[in-house]
Parts: sequence; C-alpha cells; structure tokens
Amino acid sequence: MNPRRPVRRGRLPLSLRRDPVAWERQLPTWREARPAVIAQALKRAQARPSGNWFVVGATRDVPADRPLARTIAGQEVVVWRDATGRLVAGPGVCPHLGAPLRDSPVRCGTLVCHWHGLALKGAPFAGWEPLPAYDDGVLVWVRLDDVGGEPPLETPVVPPRPALTRAVTAVYVGVGACEPEDVVANRLDPWHGAWFHPYSFVDLTVVDTPATAGKAPARTEDGEAKGEGAGEAGGEGAAAQEDGFVVDVSFRVAGRLVVPVRAVFTAPEPRTVVMHITEGEGRGSVVETHATPLGPDDRGRPRTAVVEAVVAASDRPGFAVARRMSPLLRPLVRAAAGRLWRDDLAYAERRWQLRSTGRFPG
Ligand code: FES
Ligand SMILES: [Fe+2]
Repeated sequence: MNPRRPVRRGRLPLSLRRDPVAWERQLPTWREARPAVIAQALKRAQARPSGNWFVVGATRDVPADRPLARTIAGQEVVVWRDATGRLVAGPGVCPHLGAPLRDSPVRCGTLVCHWHGLALKGAPFAGWEPLPAYDDGVLVWVRLDDVGGEPPLETPVVPPRPALTRAVTAVYVGVGACEPEDVVANRLDPWHGAWFHPYSFVDLTVVDTPATAGKAPARTEDGEAKGEGAGEAGGEGAAAQEDGFVVDVSFRVAGRLVVPVRAVFTAPEPRTVVMHITEGEGRGSVVETHATPLGPDDRGRPRTAVVEAVVAASDRPGFAVARRMSPLLRPLVRAAAGRLWRDDLAYAERRWQLRSTGRFPG
C-alpha cells in the first residue's frame, strides 16, 4: 500500500496539472500489473454468487408501449411493463407460431403478438412461462436459472448506489466478440487506464491491490456474497477495502484541466465490476460495468453485451442544475463511455482471441 495523500477536493472540481508528463514518459505499469493479480481477482469474482441474474438493459429503455428484448446465452428474452408498471419477463418467442416478440407492441400492459394477436399479460399462457424479472431503478435484470446454474437468489446483486433522486444516471450498451470474463478482466486491470486511454485518464497510480494468495471469496456461511462494496453509498465498504483495486487518477477534461479522484474497483458478482468514487469530485458516484453473454455470432465467436451504468452524484450546489439538465448530459456521458469501450472491447476481444487459441500469456 502506498500511503499517498488523499485526493483533495478544492472549491472548484477542476485542477490544473502542474507538471504534465508526456504519455511516453509516464511510469510503465506493466511490472505492477501482474497477470496473476488480475487472474486471481477474476477468479474470486467468478466464485461469488449471481443468483442467475443477468442484466438486460436500462430501466429507461422499457417504456410502457414496447418491450425490451435481448438474446441472453442464446435464449431470446423480452421484458415489458404490465398494467401496473411492474416489470415482467419471459421468452421472446411467441408460443403460437414463433413470432419474435421483440417486435410486438405493448397495449395497456399486455404484450400483443403482431402475427396473430396472442396476448400475454405476464402470467403463464399457452405454454409461455414468465421469468423472474427485477427493475433496480437504473437497470433491468432477468433470472435464467438454467443458464446460470447456481442456486437462485430472490434479487440480483445490485451494488450500493447514491440516492437516485440526487443523481444523474446514464447507461451505455456495447457488444463485443468475447466472453463476460474478458470484460471483467479488462475492468480488473486498472493499470491500463492512463496508457491505453490517455484521452480520458492521466496521472494514474494504483495505490492498493488485493492480495493474490490465500484469500477465499468473501462469502457468509450460507453462501451469500458478503456485501462487496457494502456500506453507505459514498463510503468504502469493508469488503471493497479487502478485495478492491484502489486507484488515484485524474479524468482529463481539456488540455491540462483535470478532475482528480480516488476510485475503488470491486467485483461484487461474476459479471459485474463497480468503480466507486471514494474521494474527490463526485464522491459516492458509481460506474457499474455488467457483462451479459449473448450467444455466438455467425462465425461461432461468443458475443457479450457491456451494459455500463453511470450513477453520478455530487453535493456541489451546481449539481442540482446538472440533474435538471440530465437529458442533455446523458448523451455526453454515453459518448464518453462509448469512446472508452471501443478500446476496452478491443482489449476484451483480443484477450478472448488469445485465450481461445491457447496464446494468452497470462
Ligand atoms: S405467432 Fe404469435 S400469435 Fe401467432
Ligand atoms: Fe479501460
């Protein structure tokens, strides 16, 4: 552990980099970024329970009049809102003659098949069986017990978040030719930040990493995950401290203008990595990266959706204005995530290519 100064927060969110270091002159991180550390963190994440829940997409993308559909591990799934606004889910194949329910409209909470009018209200009907669904206010989830193969959990493992009434939320969705573990491994390598994404990150130091050996997955006796990142939003949960990567980094705004923060990366379940801002501007904000397996593409390669939720909070007075402007801010946040994920998906796809041909050096 490098006892660096905590990140100070000034009157203004922005700082000016004093002695900017050119990209090629920054300290190489490859010695610290030991493949075993990343691999062990991934292994611990994979040992935690997910309860067979998979992220489908953004809450905002399930309006009253149409379903949200996704093929998860080869299974077509639709989610929509019933007449009370509750999220319901089930197979995306019409039980009559197989119409794709993803293209069917929702009328007064009923999904009406557009081929012959079969009406689904979310209850079992004509061989169509609903699936457990969960709306956490930012993301919607579906439980697929035959895909997950774990003991089911009543609800998904949702990381602690700042109060949504005080936050700006935005969700980015991208797809890559890789498996969920490649997306998670990318997020568990914080060392690549300032090298690989110099347009977004500078002055990155990994100040703490989980131990590589002798650390069992954090579970209680009944097999439940022991509150990864638990604690109040904005705090640092004990488990996050035990098994998190702590990173001091500055987000580049423009030129030498940066926003310095401390961030903690944890993996509360096998397909989720959370970045929790613990010090500096936006303390309490979280960025959740969820990896959902979709199924093979036409070349037989696995495809994985990255669903990334930004839940940004701030106690600065101006943030109330930012919240009101959130319809304008959301596309900007999504664009920033999109740029990062173009590169990070290339990293994840590369990792899968090497793994699948026995050439991965890690
Ligand atoms: S295929 Fe859906 S009603 Fe016929
Ligand atoms: Fe990255």
